[in-house]
Amino acid sequence: MPETIIDLRSDTVTRPTPAMRSAIQAADVGDDVFGEDPTVNHLQEKVAALLGKEAALFVPSGTMSNQICVKAHTHPGDELLCESSCHIYVNEAGAPAALSGVTCRTIKGDYGILDLSQLEDKIRPVNDHQVRTRLVALENTHNRGGGRIYPLDKIAAISGWARRHSLLMHLDGARLWNAIVTTGIPGGEWAKHFDSVSVCFSKGLGAPIGSALAGSREFVTRAKRIRKMLGGGMRQAGMAAAGALFALEHHVDRLADDHRHAQVIAQAVADTPGLLLDPPEVETNLVFFEVDPDLGTAKDVAAALKQRGVLVHLPGPQTIRACTHLDVSAAQAEHAAEIIRQAVRHVVPASYDYFANVPRKHGTRTMGRP
Ligand SMILES: Cc1ncc(COP(=O)(O)O)c(C=O)c1O
Repeated sequence: MPETIIDLRSDTVTRPTPAMRSAIQAADVGDDVFGEDPTVNHLQEKVAALLGKEAALFVPSGTMSNQICVKAHTHPGDELLCESSCHIYVNEAGAPAALSGVTCRTIKGDYGILDLSQLEDKIRPVNDHQVRTRLVALENTHNRGGGRIYPLDKIAAISGWARRHSLLMHLDGARLWNAIVTTGIPGGEWAKHFDSVSVCFSKGLGAPIGSALAGSREFVTRAKRIRKMLGGGMRQAGMAAAGALFALEHHVDRLADDHRHAQVIAQAVADTPGLLLDPPEVETNLVFFEVDPDLGTAKDVAAALKQRGVLVHLPGPQTIRACTHLDVSAAQAEHAAEIIRQAVRHVVPASYDYFANVPRKHGTRTMGRP
């Protein structure tokens, strides 16, 4: 293995920068369970202001943040509507069922994006037999959807419909920052369509720990009690909140660099026969691609990349995710792109008609087969 590893598995692998560590070290702290940590209080006020909500609550993780919101919005026996590959349903250990007694009714989206027309017939009739439809949960950007940004007009349409039918709206905005930076649409414009919003500091923003949820003051008061119940009340949490504050102040605009680096990697994928960008357009910092089964498996390609110092994530047997972040420089993105081009040639079986494939431009959907 080469000495320098370029870790593209996730934007959660970032380590705090020296400047962030200094901010953490200097943090003014108190007991946050008593509401006395000035750094946590400052962070919560800042997040609430950024999202145009009355209040916010600092929590240990994005999962806890989402699940507190699910629990605060529902009663056991309720149902939430969500996209079938969303984090809340697929990647949170069955928590809606286990912690809130809530069933998830899943609907397949277009790379994670739902259209109102797919939801309109999903509200259950009110009677003694059926679960009660209560909550709609959306994800922006959509992780499994390949980092896709939810079009704001689709959110507005879903939210208007939900309100007309007394449904509540939650946003898993773990990577909302990436959507804000790409579109220039401020946090409040996204958040106003939701009763609760969860954001993460420990992904592209590079903080070591922490997420926040935001909503009305009354909602956040209830959320705080649930946080306590789940064991998420932390004491001198300002040590963590200081990293999050530093990230908000210094690492939001630079997400545009991650997006540029993702384009470099996406182009290498698009240029490489046997790999298929899926989705074909990369909008933020996540690059998903499929490996042609004639070429091998995602594991084969990942092993070849690893041997050359590039780590990727394997969400499926033929699927690879490469994720750019704070700890991947422009030069490293270029280097990783070059390695993708080389390494795939290395795994090509003799039978694979590599040279029959035409180079493609990023954005096309062929598997490299002419
Ligand atoms: C879209 C999305 N939501 C929520 C989470 C959960 O965050 P955490 O790992 O902090 O629990 C993640 C984690 O990657 C995520 O991608």
